[in-house]
Amino acid sequence: MASVLILNGPNLNMLGIRQPEVYGVTTLADIEKLCKEHGQAIDLEVSFAQSNHEGALVDAIHDARGTHQGIIINAGAYTHTSIALMDAIASVELPTIELHLSNVHAREEFRHKSYIAKVCLGIICGFGAQGYTLAMDAIKAHVKD
Ligand code: DQA
Repeated sequence: MASVLILNGPNLNMLGIRQPEVYGVTTLADIEKLCKEHGQAIDLEVSFAQSNHEGALVDAIHDARGTHQGIIINAGAYTHTSIALMDAIASVELPTIELHLSNVHAREEFRHKSYIAKVCLGIICGFGAQGYTLAMDAIKAHVKD
């Protein structure tokens, strides 16, 4: 069975508490449950992780090589700042989807820039927690092709 790493960056452990008017009231544990259930429905194994630390996210991306067939990453604010995450994604050569709960393009200007977009297969943003299952469908279809 194909396997995907779903990686979450800084402050996403605060979902449910953090700015509910922007991010909703769904917690990261709720999203993990949703992803695991969706994985069973579409035959995609799911590893779900979160870190507030840039280096730990780089390590997780490196470790995905040889273990997973794709990555879905909500890099949080590191999306807009991290050349290290961009280089890590480029290094492992795994199909990777950039994901955001909010529509970053409808928000502050500094959120419009993504370092990781140029090394990702595509971007899903603005669909809240549902974006995770949309990204899983996209990875599943891509891996099959
Ligand atoms: C986010 C958007 C980022 O700009 C922000 O820094 C986050 C969450 C999202 O899921 O909408 O932490 O990635």
